[in-house]
Amino acid sequence: MDIIIRRTPDEVGAYAADCIEPFARQGATIGLATGSTPNPTYKELIRRHREEGLSFANCKAFLLDEYYGLPRDHEQSYYSTIRREFTGSIDIPDAAVASPNGEAEDPHSAAASYDHAIRHAGGVDIQILGIGANGHIAFNEPTSSLRSRTRLIDLHPRTIEDNARFFDSADEVPRQALSQGIGTILEARHLVLIATGPAKANAVQALVEGPLSASCPASALQLHNAATVVVDESAAELLSDAETYKDFDPYWR
Ligand code: F6R
Repeated sequence: MDIIIRRTPDEVGAYAADCIEPFARQGATIGLATGSTPNPTYKELIRRHREEGLSFANCKAFLLDEYYGLPRDHEQSYYSTIRREFTGSIDIPDAAVASPNGEAEDPHSAAASYDHAIRHAGGVDIQILGIGANGHIAFNEPTSSLRSRTRLIDLHPRTIEDNARFFDSADEVPRQALSQGIGTILEARHLVLIATGPAKANAVQALVEGPLSASCPASALQLHNAATVVVDESAAELLSDAETYKDFDPYWR
């Protein structure tokens, strides 16, 4: 893993945008995360689109996950969120942005078809990831199999609590989601995980320095040969050996 430590969330966003830009230029397939952490990255990519002509017109995108049981046009569905925060402000065609069908009657077959659609599109070239305070990636909560595929998942009480800020109350947060599995995510050719703020420090420490374990699903990045972890100083504060992590650009940049 390459560990990159930046001072602020905006600097983290700028670094992540630098990682994504060359892929956008090649018309790559980009894996998108929702949540608050990637917003500075998306803002910077939108700026580059508007001011520097960075085009996403030939790109495809796959979202990591979607709440199950929330209408697609609900303002907190990830389908709506990614359009509001990112893809609605760049030139990627709307039809090229795919997300799991959170309204499907049969969630298991919807999950399997989403996994199939990713493979059929040739896989994800670069995947952006956030991390939950409990170490989850996408909605793969602790104990998720490190080889899991896209599937229906019961959200952890901590995730429901964390995501309640987007809803009027915790009661409104859906209890389930369709999420790419850890095995699915590990098939992406490049991974860029971003984490900012002190609430992520424990999870970042477990991801970088802890054992490979389903207790911290993000530790599965240790198995990937092109994974970059970009964190701000407060998310890095529990790393016991931060000074020794060389701030080299990843080999593929
Ligand atoms: C969202 C997702 C989640 C978030 C994680 C962190 O698509 O996959 O794993 O990345 O819950 O969320 P924020 O960034 O809001 O702290």
